[in-house]
Amino acid sequence: MDRKDKTVAESKVETFHIIMPSDMNDSGRLFGGTLMCWIDEVAGLVGRRHAQMNVTTGSVDNLRFLRGAYLQDMIVMCGKVTHVGNKSMEVKVETFIEQPDGRRDLINRAYLTMVGIDEENQPARLPRLILETEEDKEEWERAETRRRIRRQQKADGFHFYDADH
Ligand SMILES: CC(C)(COP(=O)(O)OP(=O)(O)OC[C@H]1O[C@@H](n2cnc3c(N)ncnc32)[C@H](O)[C@@H]1OP(=O)(O)O)[C@@H](O)C(=O)NCCC(=O)NCCS
Repeated sequence: MDRKDKTVAESKVETFHIIMPSDMNDSGRLFGGTLMCWIDEVAGLVGRRHAQMNVTTGSVDNLRFLRGAYLQDMIVMCGKVTHVGNKSMEVKVETFIEQPDGRRDLINRAYLTMVGIDEENQPARLPRLILETEEDKEEWERAETRRRIRRQQKADGFHFYDADH
């Protein structure tokens, strides 16, 4: 299948949730695991749009809970590709509470590595990312730094999930 290179804008995703009682933890806040599930879903949607194939989550890093969210808060989640390597891409997901006046307060930022998966269920080469704006280019530069750090951490044996650790 011929997959076309895409701009950042072409795979952007925005999703919305209203916090329901079933989303809460026992201290009256949004349960972190629920938010992580929503983040993973957004990253998967962004990744599939860019890749034009299935993707799987390779890792989640820099997942920062900046402030809590509460019953009936309106949650807005914005996801976009920041970097594409060979078979993996970085997706940034930001979560906001949208106030009744439309103001958005950032409550979480996460970076996920999504890996393209082909019809044989194997990691596959991804379409390139077309950088259109200054912001796209700045995001790419910052993502390159994170990619270098990830590689260094792996080389240093920091990744305790490696099969031989
Ligand atoms: C993710 C997975 C497909 C990678 O398989 P692999 O054989 O290591 O893949 P490769 O060595 O060909 O690497 C492919 C790319 O993924 C990247 N990658 C692989 N594992 C990664 C990880 N854990 N974190 C970040 N990047 C990862 C590699 O750096 C490489 O990037 P590049 O091609 O852009 O340079 C495999 O580890 C897997 O299936 N993991 C389980 C994923 C899953 O089930 N997720 C759902 C949540 S449970």
